[in-house]
Amino acid sequence: SETREDYDDKQVVSEIMARCFIPTRITTSSWEGFRFVGHEIRITEAMDCYGAVVWPSALVLCYFLETNAKQYNMVDKNVIEIGAGTGLVSIVASLLGAHVTATDLPELLGNLQYNISRNTKTKCKHLPQVKELSWGVALDKNFPKSSNNFDYILAADVVYAHPFLEELLVTFDHLCKETTTILWVMRFRLEKENKFVDRFKELFDLEEISSFPSLNIKLYKAVRKSRRSA
Ligand SMILES: C[S@@+](CC[C@H](N)C(=O)[O-])C[C@H]1O[C@@H](n2cnc3c(N)ncnc32)[C@H](O)[C@@H]1O
Repeated sequence: SETREDYDDKQVVSEIMARCFIPTRITTSSWEGFRFVGHEIRITEAMDCYGAVVWPSALVLCYFLETNAKQYNMVDKNVIEIGAGTGLVSIVASLLGAHVTATDLPELLGNLQYNISRNTKTKCKHLPQVKELSWGVALDKNFPKSSNNFDYILAADVVYAHPFLEELLVTFDHLCKETTTILWVMRFRLEKENKFVDRFKELFDLEEISSFPSLNIKLYKAVRKSRRSA
């Protein structure tokens, strides 16, 4: 028999997935469409790397930002996204009024900038910035602690079988001030990832906000440990 939780999971997941549509006309340029915050967002995916497609975790985070816009108000907030990939989450945060810096590895930035410009120009209060951020690399130089002032750090599906998990943790630590809230969507694939969650918990107070068992996805909120969670 189906539990209440299974039912909610299926309902919400089908609602989240329904935000994605494929263009009906055959065009020469290929893109995928997404509907969030009253906008039709067109995302071009590149086929050559991990970050070049939109992952379900990104949809979960976009949906969360849209449906919790009161409690997690993005208007005029300073937001950084790490591992932004195609940029969908950054675009949604911008459409919600945030001041966004979208970051990823250098090879992703061309496509990321393209998607962001195309979907935010003339639609957003603050034009998003696109910047290189390779986890753990030159953080002091490119993101000096003295000028970091992020209200939110957004991360969707950044933990998987890659060799930079420690660097990823260092990056969260570097960017996160006492007043920063991390919204992190995690897709569980392997045992290794549970270890990352344990390491993460050494530095941050982690709270599970929602869980989508059918996708193996959890949405977490985290704040720096020294701070009393609100
Ligand atoms: C699974 S994809 C998720 C992309 C996007 N957030 C989404 O959910 O659709 C992981 C992202 O992390 C980025 N990434 C992987 N290793 C990285 C590193 N060492 N430094 C910075 N970004 C990295 C990838 O380029 C990719 O965009």
